[in-house]
Amino acid sequence: MSKTPEKQPGDPKTTGHVWDGLEEFDNPMPRWWLWTFYATIIWGVIYTILYPAWPLVNSATAGILGWSTRANVAAEIAAVEEANAAINDKLASVELASIQGDAELNSYAVSAGSAVFKTWCAQCHGSGAAGAKGYPNLLDDDWLWGGDIESIHYTITHGIRNEDSDEARYSEMPAFGRDELLTEEEIDQVVNYVMSLSGEPRDAGAVEAGSVIYADNCAACHGEDATGDREQGAPNLSDAIWLFGGDYDSLTETVTNSRYGVMPAWNTRLTEAQIRAVATYVHQLGGGE
Ligand code: HEC
Ligand code: HEC
Repeated sequence: MSKTPEKQPGDPKTTGHVWDGLEEFDNPMPRWWLWTFYATIIWGVIYTILYPAWPLVNSATAGILGWSTRANVAAEIAAVEEANAAINDKLASVELASIQGDAELNSYAVSAGSAVFKTWCAQCHGSGAAGAKGYPNLLDDDWLWGGDIESIHYTITHGIRNEDSDEARYSEMPAFGRDELLTEEEIDQVVNYVMSLSGEPRDAGAVEAGSVIYADNCAACHGEDATGDREQGAPNLSDAIWLFGGDYDSLTETVTNSRYGVMPAWNTRLTEAQIRAVATYVHQLGGGE
């Protein structure tokens, strides 16, 4: 049991709570604190009347000022769209090849195209457009389907090997191993030949045999000189730039089972002005022809 000292006249008022002989003073709140507290209550009440505040089941009380972040954003977007309407119309209607000659239109297209790219393309091609395995690098001048502005525009508009557009770019490399078009030994030889094309030192006998297999089975798409065929999206096999990997195992897998990439068509999701903007953006990244 703790012992509370005797009360003296003039001692501060206490609440009567005692812990181990310690008492709690019963001082009034400071004035400035109390008034601040009342002010926040009044401010809170006024705020809930003026602005959206109390949550309801599917919405919230609107507030008498009618203020809404969503409506503000919509208004800002509408204002930007209206301001850009004229230049977007122009972008969508001029000759494709003339965009780059018009400095104002070109700089608008590049900046609008960069925004489109970040939103719609970066998840596959990378935010810097450098690509990844199976997703081509758009910065270099190595093109599957062509690097002039018309080809890029077509590729983006219709996409590649997709089901959404009848005009999508399409081609299919046979699965030479899986479909038993070539034996394992022949695949080994042709892979050796393909590797030798980009300067890899390989067994001369295998390369020799592989070159014959190549001429019979591959040249129709990849070309006699293996520099590829853009009509069919068949890549250049002689430049040491690989979409699916250039080591022996990756190439054996590619030739055995065939691999191909799919890109959606964008004409169902983007406006013509947006497609032209992003085509212009991709074209000026470094590899445009
Ligand atoms: C879902 C993934 C995906 C998205 C999203 C995507 N792409 Fe592609 N893109 C691909 C693939 C895969 C290829 C390669 C197809 C092939 O192997 O032939 C490709 C190829 C391309 C090519 C052809 C490159 C060449 O060498 O000819 C261009 C140009 C291109 N994409 C631009 C874009 C643009 C611009 C966007 C955004 C509007 C975009 N892509 C969005 C997957 C995608
Ligand atoms: C019918 C046309 C066709 C024939 C025939 C063909 N290819 Fe292909 N090949 C393609 C296409 C198209 C691609 C690209 C697929 C893609 O972009 O997604 C490709 C891709 C490749 C790749 C991947 C290149 C890379 O950058 O990763 C290799 C390697 C390859 N072919 C080797 C061969 C060899 C070897 C043969 C013969 C045994 C052959 N191809 C026959 C159309 C063909």
